[in-house]
Amino acid sequence: MRVVLAYSGGLDTSVAIKWLQEKYDAEVITMTLDIGQLEDLKAIEEKAKALGVYKHYSINAIDEFVERYVARAIKANALYEGKYPLHSALSRPLIAEKLVEVALKEGADAVAHGCTGRGNDQVRIEITVKSLAPHLKIIAPVREWELSRDREIAYAKEKGIPIPIKDKPYSIDQNLWGRSIECGPLDDPYAEPPEDAFEWTVDPSKAPNEPTYVTLTFKNGLPIAINGVEMSLKDIIASLNKIAGQHGVGRVDHIEDRVVGIKSREVYEVPAAICIVEAHKDLEKMTLTKHELAFKSMIDDAWSRLVYEGLWCDPLREDLEAFIDKTQDRVEGEVKLKLYKGSAMVVGRKSPRSLYDCLLYTSPSPRDLSTSRMPSSA
Ligand code: ARG
Repeated sequence: MRVVLAYSGGLDTSVAIKWLQEKYDAEVITMTLDIGQLEDLKAIEEKAKALGVYKHYSINAIDEFVERYVARAIKANALYEGKYPLHSALSRPLIAEKLVEVALKEGADAVAHGCTGRGNDQVRIEITVKSLAPHLKIIAPVREWELSRDREIAYAKEKGIPIPIKDKPYSIDQNLWGRSIECGPLDDPYAEPPEDAFEWTVDPSKAPNEPTYVTLTFKNGLPIAINGVEMSLKDIIASLNKIAGQHGVGRVDHIEDRVVGIKSREVYEVPAAICIVEAHKDLEKMTLTKHELAFKSMIDDAWSRLVYEGLWCDPLREDLEAFIDKTQDRVEGEVKLKLYKGSAMVVGRKSPRSLYDCLLYTSPSPRDLSTSRMPSSA
């Protein structure tokens, strides 16, 4: 049997290589996707090869991730349950698509992933794989083997799998659009996240005492320039993550409803996503009508829930996007954000398509208005 495994280089998927080789006598092909998670792709490839894989694929999919997934999330103001910009959820259908692509190219019988049985990611990957290539078998080693952490480490030692020196007790998933931090001390929903959970954002109380102003220029619903300098969306996101992160912007801590019916405590770092979605929403308020806005907020919400639930392949997503895209023609202009001590406040906006009428507020002047309404005392 030939299996394509989505490989992160971490302990779970490293153990999965050996487990698939032993249990299924499989030829394992590993595949690692770079979607801006800043990892050392070369080191991951070497690790996979050292574990005896038949072949390894390193795929740079950052541009595809931004253009096909993140851009659509921006137009849909995607914030699941009002808080989560869906960075992890958006990446899973892309991982699944690439797994299928490699599996078809290599004539594999199955694909495999390192998800557990508690989360959403298994659902997202499996639904997408099944809708693209129903004949492929799906193997989820971590879900099947039910090894405790201690037994997993013992197995790894026995098989000569390098055990990462883990200095932090968290489960991390990150890409260009955001960083998810779960587990360890975060499982207690009343405990404030320890400072070492954060890497992209400074503690807002230690952020600079002076605000930074950032202007985002939008065209067709997407940012095209930052402070007047035109850049690719990918570069705008990367630089906003830095600038806003330095001001402590983008920390999210909320209780989330998972697909599988349980609630979870989630902590995210999403500086660029918060700035862009807030600015985009604000510009829509200036350029779309009252009735469009009310209807679009329902469509946006449906889009976020569909994507959260892993239904990227459901035709409904494209149906919703047909409406969303139609509205975005008019979403253009500039939004000024003030970054200060953890907040990203919209403090100004202007648009050639503005529906706001300044004249209503300047003529007649408030004084004229009051005198004209007041009965003459003379
Ligand atoms: N709760 C988020 C979601 O379901 C984040 C998941 C992060 N994934 C992970 N494997 N740590 O989309």
